[in-house]
Amino acid sequence: MSAPQPAARGYVVRPVAGVGGELTVPGDKSISHRSLMLGAIAQGRTRVRGFLQSEDCLATMRALQALGVAIEQRDANSVIIEGVGLRGLKRAGRALDMGNAGTAIRLMTGLLAGQHFDSELTGDESLRRRPMERAAVPLRQMGASIETTGGCPPVRICGQAALSAIHYDLPVASAQVKSAILLAGLYADGLTSVSEPAVTRDHTERMLEAFGARVSVRERTCGVTGPGSLRACDIDVPGDLSSAAFFLVAGALAARGTLVLRNVGVNPTRTGMLDILRLMGASISITNERRSGGEPVADLHVERSTLRGVTVPQDLVPLAIDEFPAIFVAAACAQGVTTVTGAAELRVKESDRIGAMAEGLQRLGIEVEVLPDGMRVQGGGLRGGRIDSRGDHRIAMAFAVAGIRAEGAIEIDDVANVATSFPGFAETARGAGMDLQLA
Ligand code: S3P
Repeated sequence: MSAPQPAARGYVVRPVAGVGGELTVPGDKSISHRSLMLGAIAQGRTRVRGFLQSEDCLATMRALQALGVAIEQRDANSVIIEGVGLRGLKRAGRALDMGNAGTAIRLMTGLLAGQHFDSELTGDESLRRRPMERAAVPLRQMGASIETTGGCPPVRICGQAALSAIHYDLPVASAQVKSAILLAGLYADGLTSVSEPAVTRDHTERMLEAFGARVSVRERTCGVTGPGSLRACDIDVPGDLSSAAFFLVAGALAARGTLVLRNVGVNPTRTGMLDILRLMGASISITNERRSGGEPVADLHVERSTLRGVTVPQDLVPLAIDEFPAIFVAAACAQGVTTVTGAAELRVKESDRIGAMAEGLQRLGIEVEVLPDGMRVQGGGLRGGRIDSRGDHRIAMAFAVAGIRAEGAIEIDDVANVATSFPGFAETARGAGMDLQLA
């Protein structure tokens, strides 16, 4: 186990002539959370390699340990989970603190909705502002008894004798809500199904299948037939495309030769940002495509290109939802105007990412027009300045990438939460040639 890194309070990033080299990024956050949860309720021992040892995933791990699951960390990125079976979780006896992790709290609400015991889930200040009714509403339709606090965490779940299978039409495209329903569906008799208004990441469906659950998927509807019994399996977690995204933009802006990112997950429900960057004129190629543990994985090569502004097609928005902070930086460095609409969900992430990115880009001299569901960005020259990341990991990393191209230093405050998704970001950035100092 590598020692936890001291949390940096801020970054100072100065412009550089170029970035490059071969990089790897830490394991996928979405897949790491799911591997812990499904491993916990499977029969037998699940081994996870490439596990993301970040604060968000550690919150899930601690919650499951508090629910009576033995989970052992073997080394920096592998864990072993001794599954307790579908009915083996035990009452925690205290509120489960999910930290900053939206995925953890939404999915755990689904998992705990079908248990015989009561639970309470809470989180940090940011998480306690995030909407929970979107998950609670369908779970209540299944018979769960869930109380939110003004629609947000803390969330109290009363133990249930049984849940009923339902079909649910999701009003917002959310993989977290879809997954919460499917996890609860394991505890209901019959087919629980979900239709989504737009395609969202399908890691839960893929992993449930790998664990032997009865899963059905047809176009934008998926389902699970309960009661599900899961068999432990080994999981290889690919590198997180959402972390690679920062270096894809860095490479498109300033690669010397080619910047290569090895072993990155390229599940088609996640690759919207590759399409968006290509529309903007980025040169990105995908090689060595293979499958690993039910997920497509590849190496990504990016070269420096002149980027141009685009109107982002709305159907790509859910497929790139976590990558917009990086995409807005690409837009600021592009020629012309980039327009993003249909992205109101960005307002309820770890921060209001439309507000946070607009404020930061304006501070660096970029003209933006804030829209209720997106933003219009006029590409131009970036100057140095001081940025408040609002405690949002992806806002902090996006502005670090902007620092490559700014005229002066960019100082980014409140970066400790980078550790929620990308431990070692500063070292990886320096390895790519960025001039990033901790402050
Ligand atoms: C995630 C789903 C997305 C994404 C989040 C991870 C997941 O959230 O933004 O970072 O792992 O299911 P929504 O489901 O709220 O869109």
